[in-house]
Amino acid sequence: MTIPAKDINLPILHLIGEEADKLHLECYVIGGWVRDLLLHRHSKDIDVVVVGSGIELARAVALRLGKGAHLAVFKTYGTAQVKKGEQEVEFVGARRESYRHESRNPIVEDGTLEDDQNRRDFTINALAICLNSDRYGVLLDPFGGIDDLQEGIIRTPLDPDITFSDDPLRMMRGIRFATQLGFYLDRETFDAIERNRERIGIITKERIVDELQKIMLSRKPSVGWLLLDKTGLLPLIFPELSALKGIETVEGRGHKDVFLHTLKVLDNVADKSDNLWLRWAALLHDIGKPRSKQWEPNTGWTFKNHNYIGAKMLQGIFKRMKLPLNDKLDYVRKLVDLHMRPINLIEDTVTDSAVRRLLFEAGDDIDDLMLLCDADITSKNEEKVQRYHRNYELVRQKMRELEERDRIRNFQPPVMGEEIMQLLGLEPCKEVGELKMAVKDAILDGIIPNEHDAAKAYLLQIAAERGIGKVKGER
Ligand code: CTP
Repeated sequence: MTIPAKDINLPILHLIGEEADKLHLECYVIGGWVRDLLLHRHSKDIDVVVVGSGIELARAVALRLGKGAHLAVFKTYGTAQVKKGEQEVEFVGARRESYRHESRNPIVEDGTLEDDQNRRDFTINALAICLNSDRYGVLLDPFGGIDDLQEGIIRTPLDPDITFSDDPLRMMRGIRFATQLGFYLDRETFDAIERNRERIGIITKERIVDELQKIMLSRKPSVGWLLLDKTGLLPLIFPELSALKGIETVEGRGHKDVFLHTLKVLDNVADKSDNLWLRWAALLHDIGKPRSKQWEPNTGWTFKNHNYIGAKMLQGIFKRMKLPLNDKLDYVRKLVDLHMRPINLIEDTVTDSAVRRLLFEAGDDIDDLMLLCDADITSKNEEKVQRYHRNYELVRQKMRELEERDRIRNFQPPVMGEEIMQLLGLEPCKEVGELKMAVKDAILDGIIPNEHDAAKAYLLQIAAERGIGKVKGER
């Protein structure tokens, strides 16, 4: 099969082919770029395999590209990278790889194109297109990768036990491709993941999390998490999520399966938002439920404080999974912690103060929180679903009204610590913090408006009542 010239008409590919011809080297574009070309997906990075020295060809290509081209050579791996502007091309010599059981590092030898295709993870990633001018565009597909692309199948080129044992990360990659592309795992490939799952233990958390992030950014991330569960990888890489599975029944009363509910919430959020961390918040919103679950004879199943317990678990989870311990963690923690609050604001008796406090605590993330809460409604009872959505709309309306009036969302106290110290002749001390807090509470509780003069008057009043400081001008 030959790929139509118009589909591979990139000047850089022609240029690589010409330089390879001059050096009498056979060369092919291979892997993800070819797969994505045939799937009409955008793919930036180009991998080129050379029968011979990849480094030699890379040098020639960099020279020909001239000014602005950058060459990086990795002698130990026999690879080289050429970059110019946005364009990035990796060059590697065709190789044979064999692996030892206890290590991810293979023994590498020079090989043919076929050897190189053999060592690749999936048939759809082993497709190669020739770049030499006499065979430009000729597609080499020794394992039926084209058929698998058409049928939507993820399958290893060789015995899957060997492919996965050689590099266990490929089990995660297979699940990730199935999720990203909406493909199925071939039965034998699936079974081999199940058999080899324990081997995931030799893979670093960073590489695992890279795959999880790609699953999370897919159109329907639940597909990946369900496959991780079905293959038995989930308890090995994310035991807290695995613990959400299952239904316990007491006196004939069961609770819902929190894992399946969570995946529904995740997909609901993914339908509405590409925000990766909002998706993580969806995945983790009920992570505290197993630890808070209780059967209470008069009430049934309860999950008291599961939001708070869940929020407390996140630092440990993020640290172990090598997820970032920065403002992303703070954001996810905030949403997990607050996700039960809006539902408590739907009663008639709810005070403005409670709404103001939520606005204050959620700040700019209030819209994301409400999106998560909407997504959290997964009841099968349509009437109930509609009622919840309507109630949330009322909460939103109440928030808008209060926000317009009181500007709480990005609340800054109208009297600051400096001013308090100056007004009352105080050095920095704990009373300053307490007074500041009292002013903030009075504003959130609606006792005084969110304005400087009112806040100052209130401050002086409570300071006098508490006998703190000396008001300037006081005799
Ligand atoms: N590959 C492999 N085993 C791995 C990683 C990569 O066999 N564990 C091979 C595959 O042929 C793959 C190619 O190396 O297509 C390039 O790998 P990479 O750039 O990591 O992935 P892509 O397939 O390009 O896909 P993506 O960019 O979506 O990760």
